[in-house]
Amino acid sequence: MSSRKKFIAGNWKMNKTSADGVTLVHDIVLAVGKQSDVEVVVCPPFTAIESVAKAVEGSEVKLGAQNMHFEASGAFTGEVSAPMLRALFATHVILGHSERRTIFGETDELVNKKVLAALKNQLRPIFCVGETLAERESGATLKVVQTQVERGLAGVGKDQAAGLILAYEPVWAIGTGKVATTEQAQEVHAFIRGLLTNLFSDLVAQKVRILYGGSMKPANAPELLAQKDIDGGLIGGASLEARSFVELVTAAIAAK
Ligand code: 13P
Repeated sequence: MSSRKKFIAGNWKMNKTSADGVTLVHDIVLAVGKQSDVEVVVCPPFTAIESVAKAVEGSEVKLGAQNMHFEASGAFTGEVSAPMLRALFATHVILGHSERRTIFGETDELVNKKVLAALKNQLRPIFCVGETLAERESGATLKVVQTQVERGLAGVGKDQAAGLILAYEPVWAIGTGKVATTEQAQEVHAFIRGLLTNLFSDLVAQKVRILYGGSMKPANAPELLAQKDIDGGLIGGASLEARSFVELVTAAIAAK
């Protein structure tokens, strides 16, 4: 039990056409679109953002993007900016996801520029960190997470920091069916909250939601969500079907 409102976000990754996204979100809105006990955000691919924005209008379900460029406009072929996302009524943006870091070579410095640009444009970053299997096995988890948090949040003001959302996603648990044990996840979440105290203040650290991501499913969610420092989930695979996503929101309502 904590004063932080639980938060469930669906990261659809590169899935769903615009039409399929509308069908999915329609069912989500019907099931949990009126409740406000848990914050619910869906993050479709760019091509579905506008249609999904219309489908969530008037409900409590919010809209996020999966990435953005740090500049507002310019010669950046293939990119989209924070003001463009704001114009489509997006309120959140996932930044620093491990797939962006490993497949697309995003560095802590680049992610940091994006975090600062998102905050400047009133978009709430869902800022992701997490270690690889090799890093965990060599005992480097906390060091890796510390570096990602400190570099990714460099220059964020104390007044802006409470609006951040962090996501701990152990890379070895993403899309693998291997979920971190509740002890492993809680240890890193508590560690991240300690880092936020050092970087900002205890007050800020107590306000920031820290989500778990990596093979979160209705079956394992209740135990994870019961942990003191786990404030919700960033869901990949299980966010692609209304039934499992809604079950996760329901689990978060029960855990609040
Ligand atoms: P899975 O839930 O498919 O493991 O994905 C987690 C994730 O990467 C969410 O951002």
